[in-house]
Amino acid sequence: MAAKKNKTSFFCTSCGYQCAKWLGKCPGCNEWDTMQEAPTEASPTETHETPQMVAAITELGEVAQPIPISAIDESEQPRQSTGIGEFDRVLGGGVVTGSVVLVGGDPGIGKSTLLLQVLDQLSTPGQTTLYVSGEESPVQSKMRSRRMGINNDELYFLAASGIEEIIKHFRQLKPKTLVIDSIQTCHSPEIKSPPGTTSQVRQSAAHLVKIAKLTNTPIFIIGHVTKDGAIAGPKLLEHMVDTVLYFESDTQYPYRILRAVKNRFGSTNEIGVFEMTGSGLIGVESPSSIFLNERPQNLAGSLVSATIEGTRPILTEIQALVSTAVSGGIPRRTTLGIDRNRAALMIAIMEKRLRLNFSNKDIFLNIVGGLKIIEPAIDLALIAAILSSHLDQIIPTTTIVIGEVGLTGEIRRVNMIEQRLSEALKFGFKKIIVPQGNLSSSPTSNKDCIKEISTLQELAAALFS
Ligand code: TYD
Ligand code: MG
Repeated sequence: MAAKKNKTSFFCTSCGYQCAKWLGKCPGCNEWDTMQEAPTEASPTETHETPQMVAAITELGEVAQPIPISAIDESEQPRQSTGIGEFDRVLGGGVVTGSVVLVGGDPGIGKSTLLLQVLDQLSTPGQTTLYVSGEESPVQSKMRSRRMGINNDELYFLAASGIEEIIKHFRQLKPKTLVIDSIQTCHSPEIKSPPGTTSQVRQSAAHLVKIAKLTNTPIFIIGHVTKDGAIAGPKLLEHMVDTVLYFESDTQYPYRILRAVKNRFGSTNEIGVFEMTGSGLIGVESPSSIFLNERPQNLAGSLVSATIEGTRPILTEIQALVSTAVSGGIPRRTTLGIDRNRAALMIAIMEKRLRLNFSNKDIFLNIVGGLKIIEPAIDLALIAAILSSHLDQIIPTTTIVIGEVGLTGEIRRVNMIEQRLSEALKFGFKKIIVPQGNLSSSPTSNKDCIKEISTLQELAAALFS
């Protein structure tokens, strides 16, 4: 008789989609090249939690009972400030008791650094916290904390990766906050597959969520984003946790941007801006100042626009480079920090409305500093940057351009214009180009600075005069 073969399936390392054969593109999340072969997920009878695990977890706290919604006391969900303003901002005002926060990002971006700093802030006498690491030894962690000037008696470190072991120490120490670094190293005894596989990551996270809810303890889970597909990424867990934060950065800059993509307890459009320094991450309260910091003076193809992130206006530099394309080749359209389709649209509008021909031109667009901008209020600035590079004409450094552009080339008003305007004035901009009528509802005392325009022809005239 043939030996019983171990059954395998293909799993998407990004979203967990399972199928019998390999596919180049995952039908679940449309990512390319994320399918990995792994032992088939155990059948429901095999994955059911072992009695030991159920007992270990339920002993941690009381199992919920149904109660009338009118009787629920909201004050039982207080928020605690983490003492790090930029982190609180992204969380929606602080960490909510019993919530599970997933912090994702590329390896080396600063996840461990940030959460060690957060725990240090949250550890006060009587408020013990626990940092569980499956990635670093106590000595490695000590080296990191010394570098960051952290030496806190209430901040405990545990080098462990087994969920059972974590629960055991959790029960003894009763920490007020728990950090798990990282979910890819965690393993739960009832799953046979190795740590980092989709089923292990899911099961371990499910246990952690239960612990958080039963004991009302906030838990931060670190997850590495893995494009190469070796291990299951944080996308797999997005639906299980309360809040999902992602760290973004452009590796050539020391700035890190923390963005909420899901938040059951707050808005998802606030970002936190940090700078990685020799002694950890430092919150940047005025991001405009860093994004404008190393701005070149008087060069064609560069200008500033004002974007809104959540409730905060941020001034950023936009750069364009228009150069002659290889003859006969397809002209290149490369963007960094801007949606490629949006850029293509602006280029098409310029060709049609300004009668320019870019078919033999390569066009590169970049948002300096690593910010990603999706709002259309920078449309007009994209056009201005391309125009400046194309004509090789300098836009004065004290000019700022704000406005959305429609398909017919019409310049459309943008929201929160007052905030954008006041940030621009704060940073000493002398000419502020805005859509016609955008400011009508808010008369401003700085009329001299404002130049209202309604067509792209007027833009060209206003930019270079
Ligand atoms: P880390 O927090 O270990 O990243 P992650 O947990 O996301 O993998 O950060 C690692 C990088 O940060 C590493 O390249 C060194 C750098 N770093 C500093 O620049 N300053 C510091 O104070 C610390 C602790 C790290
Ligand atoms: Mg780390």
